[in-house]
Amino acid sequence: MDSSKIYVGSWIVLVSLLVLNLLRSGVWNEPVWTSISSFPQQNKTPNIPKDELEAVLEGASMENKTLVIGVVNKAYTKEGSMLDLFLQSIQLGEGTQFLRNHLLLIAVDQTAFDRCNLERLHCYKLKTDGVDFSGEKIYMSNDFIKMMWSRTLFLTDVLRRGYNFIFTDMDVMWLRNPFERLSHEGEDLQISCDFYNGQPSDRANPINTGFYFVASNNKTTTLFDTWYAAKNESDGMKEQDVLGRLIREGVIERLDLRVRFLDTLYFGGFCSSGKDYGKVVTIHANCCVSIKSKIKDLRALLNGWIKFRGRSDGTSTEKSNSTSTVLWPSYEGCWGIKPDSTSTSNQTSTPSNQTLI
Ligand SMILES: *[C@@H]1O[C@H](CO)[C@@H](O)[C@H](O)[C@H]1NC(C)=O
Ligand SMILES: *[C@@H]1O[C@H](CO)[C@@H](O)[C@H](O)[C@H]1NC(C)=O
Ligand SMILES: *[C@@H]1O[C@H](CO)[C@@H](O)[C@H](O)[C@H]1NC(C)=O
Ligand SMILES: *[C@@H]1O[C@H](CO)[C@@H](O)[C@H](O)[C@H]1NC(C)=O
Ligand SMILES: *[C@@H]1O[C@H](CO)[C@@H](O)[C@H](O)[C@H]1NC(C)=O
Ligand SMILES: *[C@@H]1O[C@H](CO)[C@@H](O)[C@H](O)[C@H]1NC(C)=O
Repeated sequence: MDSSKIYVGSWIVLVSLLVLNLLRSGVWNEPVWTSISSFPQQNKTPNIPKDELEAVLEGASMENKTLVIGVVNKAYTKEGSMLDLFLQSIQLGEGTQFLRNHLLLIAVDQTAFDRCNLERLHCYKLKTDGVDFSGEKIYMSNDFIKMMWSRTLFLTDVLRRGYNFIFTDMDVMWLRNPFERLSHEGEDLQISCDFYNGQPSDRANPINTGFYFVASNNKTTTLFDTWYAAKNESDGMKEQDVLGRLIREGVIERLDLRVRFLDTLYFGGFCSSGKDYGKVVTIHANCCVSIKSKIKDLRALLNGWIKFRGRSDGTSTEKSNSTSTVLWPSYEGCWGIKPDSTSTSNQTSTPSNQTLI
């Protein structure tokens, strides 16, 4: 390697440190951002021509062609915003750190893509003609719905290429390694629920598409094709509701899918969860209206987690199945609940307006 390369390399590191500092002090502008957006990539085997997506999928996946996929836009990647919290959760989680290398972020705008690259994550820019996805998308606006559908189409492509994945919203905190809690009995789809009725195969459980594992095979590819094809006749319906409708109409039986609905005790959300740091694997800021409220409550949740980890001395994984003595935070930001209020476990909150991405 010649020394000018080393020089350029350290220069890039220096500049990124500088920009990070600028960021932290709140002074930054987009030109600085974009001008350093691409870092040198490692050379992949050059003989088979690969498209860009294949290359990033290969880079991000584990040996068993499994990876974690999330979608980000500008609003979600601002400093101190959802992406930061998400990465923090993986950093602070129990046995989750390695998953950072298997996370592929799908950026729907240039700012998000640049920010993703700056974090040195695996990044892919999803192009959708004529739509600006950079703002905070208000639940059920036209742009919101378009964005949801373009992500479904994209994920179908990933499945078709033979990759299994966990799809996660960015407002899901990963406190333990989900792969260890997921079932490994040949399930095609394991999906989180807003509420859980105790029956892992009961399709009456109300699904939440903010967190699910899907195995790549013909059946799941057909499922996603069917899901996307239902876009037309689902005027104004969110893709989650469309999948829910397909399930009610019997798509699981028709395609002979093995589906497991995930227990909110482990894969919980603000709608419903075990409220126990000793058990939680992932926790989703569902049933919540805005990014700001979500951030406030997820931050409180992470603070509780830090306390919990401090008490269980951080070394013993044996303790991870005991019930936590650290109090679960109330969702002040999302529900406006006072910290001392306790009997809220079966409160149902279905806000008419939600903000997702
Ligand atoms: C893939 O490998 C990882 C790491 O060994 C494991 O945790 C995960 O369960 C595997 N995924 C599948 C779908 O088997
Ligand atoms: C999946 O589909 C391909 C192409 O349609 C077919 O060749 C293959 O046999 C199918 N595999 C299974 C397990 O059904
Ligand atoms: C779906 O939309 C396409 C293009 O807008 C149209 O050609 C097609 O007929 C529609 N299909 C259904 C089932 O409505
Ligand atoms: C955790 O679970 C294991 C087996 O599942 C059990 O042997 C152990 O006693 C449990 N530990 C605690 C602290 O409950
Ligand atoms: C909450 O749960 C308790 C016990 O399960 C039940 O008696 C009560 O009616 C529930 N409240 C609401 C509002 O559903
Ligand atoms: C939901 O958000 C839309 C778009 O911002 C707004 O027009 C509408 O009034 C809101 N509805 C409620 C019930 O807050």
